[in-house]
Amino acid sequence: MTPLTERPAWKALWSHFTRARDWHMRALFDADPQRAARFTIEQCGLTLDYSKNRITSQTMTLLQQLAKESDLDARITEMFAGGHINRTEDRAACHVALRNRSDEPMSIDGEDVMPRISSVLERMARFARAVRSGDWLGYTNQPITDIVNIGIGGSDLGSLMVCQALKAFSHPRLNMHFISNVDSSQLKETLRRVHAQTTLFIIESKTFTTHETLTNAHTAREWFLHRAHDDRAIARHFVAVSTNGRAVAEFGIDPENMFEFWEWVGGRFSLWSAIGLPIMLYLGEQNFLKLLDGAHAMDRHFREAPPEANMPVLLALLGIWYINFFGAGSHVIAPYDQDLHRLPAFIQQLDMESNGKRTTLEGQCVEYETAPIIWGETGINGQHAFFQLLHQGTHISPIDFIASLDSHGSLPGHHEILMANMFAQAEAFMRGRNADEVIAELRAQGLDAASVRRILPFRVFDGNRPSNTLLLERLDPSCLGALIALYEHKIFVQGVIWNINSFDQWGVELGKQLASTIHAELRGTCAPQPHDASTRRLIERYLAVNAPNVPPATAQH
Ligand code: F6P
Repeated sequence: MTPLTERPAWKALWSHFTRARDWHMRALFDADPQRAARFTIEQCGLTLDYSKNRITSQTMTLLQQLAKESDLDARITEMFAGGHINRTEDRAACHVALRNRSDEPMSIDGEDVMPRISSVLERMARFARAVRSGDWLGYTNQPITDIVNIGIGGSDLGSLMVCQALKAFSHPRLNMHFISNVDSSQLKETLRRVHAQTTLFIIESKTFTTHETLTNAHTAREWFLHRAHDDRAIARHFVAVSTNGRAVAEFGIDPENMFEFWEWVGGRFSLWSAIGLPIMLYLGEQNFLKLLDGAHAMDRHFREAPPEANMPVLLALLGIWYINFFGAGSHVIAPYDQDLHRLPAFIQQLDMESNGKRTTLEGQCVEYETAPIIWGETGINGQHAFFQLLHQGTHISPIDFIASLDSHGSLPGHHEILMANMFAQAEAFMRGRNADEVIAELRAQGLDAASVRRILPFRVFDGNRPSNTLLLERLDPSCLGALIALYEHKIFVQGVIWNINSFDQWGVELGKQLASTIHAELRGTCAPQPHDASTRRLIERYLAVNAPNVPPATAQH
């Protein structure tokens, strides 16, 4: 593979950029009445308007050429064929198989995985039907009212985000709770609100070794047994989702109550697997299947559409344009929908854990920027908090505005205010406000010439700040499935262009290893270990307030 910086399209883009960096989007809109139509694409219930970007048709052609020179087609084919695209862990990353709603087989390591996927889906559906109908009874023969999901990262964020986004479709008897933080306040607060007789705990962990999840799970089990006084009751109240059957059994969960998934499903791509059990319980089998349908529709589009009409490819290329040419170090996700309030956090993990890498597939250090910092918040709240920097600060941070066209039961008058604000913000970021406009406005308010001169520099907005607007037909399972798959594929395309592995996450390992050593020191089960002076002092400061649980005399060295 030719290194990215030596690909002809990369070089052509740099020369194009020397002109493009001075364009103003206002002028681009004025020069081309068809611009909005030209740069809008509709697919799978989503409309993407990407006309408010610092691009022309030539920019997009060059970016598409870059994708071609990066062998994107072949890499997409490899992903759908179950190839080992997760090179460093030598395994497939084939979450698309989980939502393969066609009759086509999908093969991974020589095995058609569709029968296994269908059989787990069927088990999940049977279980969900029993819980939702009230047939699944707790140890005092009462139906389940509360579901507590214990997991973290990919074993938390996807289900949490989807359950909150689609709560309008939820079962009226069921309350969902998500516990991820090992800080006990989250667990304590939840346990205060539920009753052991009517609570189902789902322990979700791909590895079933994650310290935070297992600690929370053990505490939840103790809490439960303290009330049920009978180990046999566990089977009615604890289920697990994992790839690690042995560890699940060691924890004490009946293998009958374990829903499996597989190594070739990455944690952050796993909500389509049994990790989506909380979604199926809360929203029902049909809605879970519609979520898969929406994602599958996006998969087909991604696989079949040419780059110039391919939504994930277009989003990815726009990102490359800003990150690698304009030097944009961050990207904002701004949903104008309260129910999507965890979407920024979900996409943050998806993108930053996937493409926060600096080593090419050949093991060389990259010579260009990779993933941006993803951040965000519901747009309407962001407007009154951090948008000031986005409008007039010194950083360029492209924004994805996301909203649903349908007001899904909004109170009268609210949805149009929300949408008016979103459209207005995107317009303001693009247009800005020039000196002539500010002068005219201030004079109209009756300000004298000297006051206008004084205040003018502060009131001018350069504008020219890029954004995409993504409109969902409605916030329903199918559109949400398509939206999530859109971002998954966008991230994959960027990883291909940067020639990095989007499917491993070695960077998180060091902290885990060090935490395990320090944990032993804090508990007093090992002698002080070598650390830098700062860490040593911080540990000592902590121990001065919290005596170790285990006296030093019994500490193991
Ligand atoms: O530490 C990061 C990570 O491994 C994520 O990639 C993963 O989603 C999360 O932790 C949880 O891992 P597990 O599902 O194995 O508990």
